[in-house]
Amino acid sequence: MTVIMSLRKRNCLIVFAIVVSVPFCLFVFLSVPDVTSEQILAQRLAELQVRIQYLDSMYRSRQEDLQQMSQHLDQAYLSDNSSTLLPYQAELRPEVRQLLKNMTGLHAASGVNPPVTLRLPSAYHFLPHLLDDPNSLRLGYWLSRNRNGVSVVLGVPTVRREKQSYLIDTLQNLVEGLSVEEAEDSLIVVFVGETDLEYVLQIAKDIEMKFPIQVDSGLIEVISPSPGYYPNMNKLYITLGDSLERVQWRSKQNLDFAFLMSYCQPKGTFYVQLEDDILAKPSYVNLMKKFAIDKIAKKEPWLVLDFCQLGFIGKMFKSAELPWLIQFFQMFYNDKPVDWLLDYLISTKICNWEKNDNCKMEKAKVWIHYKPSLFQHIGTHSSLKGKVQKLKDKQFGKIALFFPHVNPKAEVISDIKHYKQYTLRRAYLGETFFWGLLPQPGDQLTFKFKTSINIKRFYFRSGNAEHPSDKFYNTTVEVLPEAGIGQSNNSPNMTSDGYIIVGKFDTTGIATGVPDENIGKVKVLRLNVHSESDNWAILSEIHIQDEVTAR
Ligand SMILES: *[C@@H]1O[C@H](CO)[C@@H](O)[C@H](O)[C@H]1NC(C)=O
Ligand SMILES: *[C@@H]1O[C@H](CO)[C@@H](O)[C@H](O)[C@H]1NC(C)=O
Ligand SMILES: *[C@@H]1O[C@H](CO)[C@@H](O)[C@H](O)[C@H]1NC(C)=O
Ligand SMILES: *[C@@H]1O[C@H](CO)[C@@H](O)[C@H](O)[C@H]1NC(C)=O
Repeated sequence: MTVIMSLRKRNCLIVFAIVVSVPFCLFVFLSVPDVTSEQILAQRLAELQVRIQYLDSMYRSRQEDLQQMSQHLDQAYLSDNSSTLLPYQAELRPEVRQLLKNMTGLHAASGVNPPVTLRLPSAYHFLPHLLDDPNSLRLGYWLSRNRNGVSVVLGVPTVRREKQSYLIDTLQNLVEGLSVEEAEDSLIVVFVGETDLEYVLQIAKDIEMKFPIQVDSGLIEVISPSPGYYPNMNKLYITLGDSLERVQWRSKQNLDFAFLMSYCQPKGTFYVQLEDDILAKPSYVNLMKKFAIDKIAKKEPWLVLDFCQLGFIGKMFKSAELPWLIQFFQMFYNDKPVDWLLDYLISTKICNWEKNDNCKMEKAKVWIHYKPSLFQHIGTHSSLKGKVQKLKDKQFGKIALFFPHVNPKAEVISDIKHYKQYTLRRAYLGETFFWGLLPQPGDQLTFKFKTSINIKRFYFRSGNAEHPSDKFYNTTVEVLPEAGIGQSNNSPNMTSDGYIIVGKFDTTGIATGVPDENIGKVKVLRLNVHSESDNWAILSEIHIQDEVTAR
């Protein structure tokens, strides 16, 4: 009973919050007399409205818990003969009571207040294997600071890839595209769709090592399912005439998306599905949120806001409406690919089969495309073995392939042969990126400064959006001090030819640092390659800051 009480209390709190916050906010906004702020007011109201919708869905799921519990209690009462209490002893109207009296002796009279409750089908009906393992719905792995109640939850599903993985590049891009305010009001959930704990741990470790601040602040979470969550994938039935491998791949994708969405649903007002090999435009969260709230403020109903033309990337839903999708995926996971199911769900909700021609138009009203796209694919290898995915969103527009900066005057020399017009000299001047053929051990890119400089900070970015694998691997950043070799003659950071190692390219292809002040003025800076590479190498950002260029 105390459980029920506390549940009731929680429900009351939510209702209380809604009841108190709405009139309060109305008061605050309505008391602003400025007419030009009318639009802002409408937007704020829309934001509140969709938030209340989300809170209400949370409240409803608590109610569901409550109802289930009271049903269990009723069962207990019924099996207990000593109790005189009848469950649901509803107040009968006098007319009904009279009628009942007149029916004494008839079987028909005993049908009132039956001890029978209807059992609705649940997810277990569609995924019966979940009942075989008591832990089937328990998370297999969970790295989280329990961030809740944000505006936008971004779901990033990832699976083991045979070839290059772009997950870290994708996260880097997603994190870089967020302002401080956006980062505080968002949540990025990385769903690793693998049950090999060693692999999941490796991914989680890579993510935390690369994004310690974001993991600590709760912006980035990593989750994975238990083995019991998946059915026996060899017992799926073949549908659509696809190969078993393809059926397995798309069925698992349905289950993965359903899992990720179910986890994310209670965490924020809007949910956006992404992938693990994408690029995002800067401020993408604010742009998406503003677009969504604009529509709600203008009373234009929508089901999907589409921020990318491809597959399931960049689709925004109201969290309160996610259960529709989740259940649909669970029902038909073995039958259709996930993006078809989304399409079918919307058609089923919207289309009139007797006026078939209208369907497309009607759908476009609630499945709204935002242009230009905010997301783009970077990967060329789909995670389905051998299926090379070259689909690119034409609506995304041009991607920045290099980031120009003003650098100190210098003579530049490259041991690595450049490709076409992508020379190191032009890259240093910020005219393009440098693109070199297969670096070899011992290859160097050298920057000889016209006059020696104090380096405040250096930043080198390798690889770019179109060629993310063309990075510098096992390459150090080294400087030659003007003063020659100082006291630290046999420092481990000193090369045999008198250079001091001040940095190294990391796994995301970035080398950055602030050299020790004691190094003093520097004559030369060079990038020194230590290993042979299977890839070409791109230098898409070069920024050497001295007293002059730092300003
Ligand atoms: C309930 O009471 C009836 C009659 O008094 C008895 O036959 C029956 O065994 C009892 N059932 C339980 C579950 O105690
Ligand atoms: C009770 O049943 C009798 C006979 O079936 C009928 O005549 C009478 O109208 C009934 N009374 C009421 C209150 O329904
Ligand atoms: C060598 O460089 C690393 C990082 O670049 C630095 O942490 C370390 O203190 C340096 N060691 C010496 C002896 O200068
Ligand atoms: C980098 O290159 C050096 C020298 O060839 C080699 O000893 C080392 O193992 C390499 N490190 C990595 C991470 O490949």
